[in-house]
Amino acid sequence: MTRRQMLRLGIGGCIGASVLPLGKFGYHKYQVHQLGSQSRNFQVTGDRALVERAAVKGVIYGAATQQQFLAADPAFAKNFLKECRMIVTENDLQWNQVHPTPEQFDFAAADALLNFAKTNGLLFRGHNLVWHHSLPRWYREKVNAQNAEEYLIKHIQTLVRRYAGQVHSWDVVNEAINPKSGRSDQLRQTPWLEFLGPSYIETAFILAAEADPQALLVYNDFEMDYDRPEDEAKRTAVLGLLERLKSRDVPVHALGLQAHLWGAETRFNAKILSNFLRSVADLGLKILVTELDVTDKVLPADQALRDRIIASAYEDYLNVVLDEPAVIAVLTWGLSDKYTWLSEFSPRSDKLPVRPLPLDTSFKRKLTWNAIARAFDNAPIRSNSHLR
Ligand code: XIL
Repeated sequence: MTRRQMLRLGIGGCIGASVLPLGKFGYHKYQVHQLGSQSRNFQVTGDRALVERAAVKGVIYGAATQQQFLAADPAFAKNFLKECRMIVTENDLQWNQVHPTPEQFDFAAADALLNFAKTNGLLFRGHNLVWHHSLPRWYREKVNAQNAEEYLIKHIQTLVRRYAGQVHSWDVVNEAINPKSGRSDQLRQTPWLEFLGPSYIETAFILAAEADPQALLVYNDFEMDYDRPEDEAKRTAVLGLLERLKSRDVPVHALGLQAHLWGAETRFNAKILSNFLRSVADLGLKILVTELDVTDKVLPADQALRDRIIASAYEDYLNVVLDEPAVIAVLTWGLSDKYTWLSEFSPRSDKLPVRPLPLDTSFKRKLTWNAIARAFDNAPIRSNSHLR
């Protein structure tokens, strides 16, 4: 039986059956080493780019990045164009970048990114319209229960109308669920919830749909990937939210799985993940993997072993999600280890550079690139009506 068949049957989850967690992050060394098994074959046929391997299966491959990286680093831009079909705005459309004062918007970076996308035939994806994080400093001083709706309307209309007809998809609401919030609806306690109540979510989707009827509107969240109690709670709550939205005819079109994975996490269960994806698809929703990366924070220092473990996590995950026909895009959160948020947000204690992405800091393809390429090569073909 191949590893792929085992994963499909959910046997992959057995790897985690005897896990004895050690402290906050780690697992017994032998278990982590086992994840990087030498017998695993990461061979890839040919050297076609990820974009082409994905496209022949009707899937979009792309990555998030920032205008400043593309502008300052032509070699990075060249490799981005070689591998990607879609560009995701990592930070250039976040509230704190695009809405620097209560009355002003600054579209310089986002416009330049869109221009780069259009000039080079890439799809453009907006991240994001409503999030509790990355709010500008003025937000807390200015926004309150009386005026929050006005600010929300103005922000969404200004951004979505500006790029209407040119955006493949928008992350309309980001990370609105937190099962630990103590609320019966499991919504995260955010300023938006505090000021507007639970209806802020549907308000945001309705505003976005009015401003750009062509864009695919996405609900995006993290921690839905593993066989862990927190992921199970998140999956259940997210499904509940999506069901509520659909039953009220709110224009939500897709679920975004951030998929910030952990190289040292052994509790992966293919069956649980694929059942969840099927339930989402049964609501008539598409699915996008929106922010894929694998943190190597607590992995061994040995680079070859570390790369094998990271690549294994990519391949196991993608084999499962690409088996679900509703999955239309795989987007990594960055393309090269030269530019990854994890250098800052999840650094290693030994200070070695982190290696979470398909290309290394010199833009050479790593084992992770092979893992993604193989997953595309093995994926079933879906209809590509979502490609615009
Ligand atoms: C991160 C960016 O990569 C950082 O540059 C920024 O400082 C903080 O946000 N989930 C999300 C993304 O939805 O917006 C986050 O991106 C990563 C976690």
